[in-house]
This record gives sequence, structure tokens and C-alpha cells, in this order.
Amino acid sequence: MGRTVYLNGEYVPEEEAKVSVFDRGFLFADAVYEVTSVHGGRLLDFDGHMTRLKRSLGALEIPFEVDTEAMLEIHREMVRVNAIDEGVVYLQISRGAADRSFMYPGEDVSPTIVLFTQTSEALKPKNPEKGISVVTAEDLRWGRRDIKTVQLLYPSMAKMEAAKSGADDAWLVEEGLITEGTSNNAFIVTRDGTIVTRELSNDILHGITRAAVLRFASETQLRFEERTFTPKEAREASEAFITSASNYVMPVVSIDGVQIGNGKPGPVALRLREIYIAESSKWAV
Ligand code: PDD
Repeated sequence: MGRTVYLNGEYVPEEEAKVSVFDRGFLFADAVYEVTSVHGGRLLDFDGHMTRLKRSLGALEIPFEVDTEAMLEIHREMVRVNAIDEGVVYLQISRGAADRSFMYPGEDVSPTIVLFTQTSEALKPKNPEKGISVVTAEDLRWGRRDIKTVQLLYPSMAKMEAAKSGADDAWLVEEGLITEGTSNNAFIVTRDGTIVTRELSNDILHGITRAAVLRFASETQLRFEERTFTPKEAREASEAFITSASNYVMPVVSIDGVQIGNGKPGPVALRLREIYIAESSKWAV
């Protein structure tokens, strides 16, 4: 693969980057992460990702001071040395390496910071002109989904189950209500044209793309509501879509094998995708 990765202050060939077996990211999933998309060689929504990173670190009391300017320089250098035009920069900060104990280690332990890049060929994004299919699955994740931790085994399992049933992804359901996708936020467009997505709480990740899409929806006078919805309401919606840094806005054309609308990507989703890419590109860094 031949990439240059960033590890604790150094840019190194990926084969040479080594992290301790005692790293708490490895032993306890005691780490947080961000995925920032790169479009035309520039970073989208960078400040939003750094703000959420600070929040995740704070929630877990990981003693790492995020200097947004310094982080931007590192991200840019990663994009530059790896010649990324379209793709993502992945950033992970773990609490660091310490002898295995459920207690957090003392202040002598410093966090481990890792960055690497992925090109969009490696990420294999779906075609927005075709859209994706989703199936619903029980949401068995922990209760602090607002913290972006690397504890991703259940989302991974749910995505595998979805793939086994021939679908592209899963929408997770708790107490009869959709929370979000395995690695994205879930939206529907009701038959009266209202965009609906679940309100913010500890039940979902506070998606940066979600926030941008709602901002653009309100600026373009599209009606939206932040509230819960059921799988039944979703199956009966006129459109559905997901948002995430790696997918932008991606239409959903079937849920649990039921065609949404006419089974083709809907106009609201495609328009929001266009607006999202155009507007966020204006502020890309
Ligand atoms: N996933 N919900 C979950 C559970 C996620 O993991 C993600 C992001 C989102 C969307 O957030 P944002 O718009 O800030 O990317 C929602 C990233 C892309 C990933 O794990 O690869």
C-alpha cells in the first residue's frame, strides 16, 4: 500500500509504524477517532470534526489537548504526502499504553495519536445514481453513541449480517425506533416532503454531515423535523438517505426489501447531495 502514516509526531512508512501491545486502544477500545473527507485534495468540515474530537476526548477524560491549527497542518501534510485527491483522513487518539488495568492510568501515560489516509478507490463508495439498500437490525451498541469511540464491533457485525442478506447496510432499531445506520445517520423524506432525522441525544453519533445537511436544508427553505421514526414510517416514506463523511449524502432505495418511493434515488436526496458537496467545498481547507 506504501502509505505514509502519522504516529506520535512522526511521519513514517506504514510498515514501520508500531504501536504497543499494551495500548489501551487495542486492549479496551479506549480510543476515539474522526474521519474527515478529502474532496479535490481539500478537507471538508474540518472544524466540525475537531470540535467533536474535543468533545469525545473530554467525555472519556483522555488528556489530549487538541490544537486545531496544528491538527490541520498534520491533516494537510497527510493529504499532501499521500497525494490524496478524493478519500479520507482517519485520525485516532487512544489513552496510550499502560499495564492492563480497568482503571485509567496516571498522567505519566501519554495518548497515542495515529493518522492515515484512504483513497476513495479503497473505500469503494456506492454509486449515488443507484443508491443503497438497507435492512433493519436491533441496535445492540452501548448507550454512549454520541462519543465517537473505536468500539465498532457491533456496527461491523450488523454490516456483515446485512451483506449476508444481500443488502448494503443496516439501519439500527431500538425500542421500535430507528437510531441511525451502522456508520451513518439515517434520514427519510415523508410523503408531504418533510425531511426527518432522529434528534440528537446519547443514542446517536452527532454527525458532522448530518448537521451540515440540516443547515443547508434550512437555508434552502426545505422543511425538516428532528424526531424519531419507526421502520414502518421509513418503509412508507417517499425517500430515504444516509449521511456520513465517507458517503456525503447517499440515497437509500429499499428498506427490508421494500422499495422506497419508485425504487430510484429521490430528488431531495440527490439535491441535498449536490448542495452538500458544493457548499462544503466552498469552506474546504
Ligand atoms: N462514521 N453515525 C455513526 C454511528 C457513524 O459511525 C458515523 C460516521 C456517522 C456520520 O458522522 P459524520 O457525518 O460526522 O461522518 C453517524 C465514519 C464515517 C466511519 O466510521 O467511517
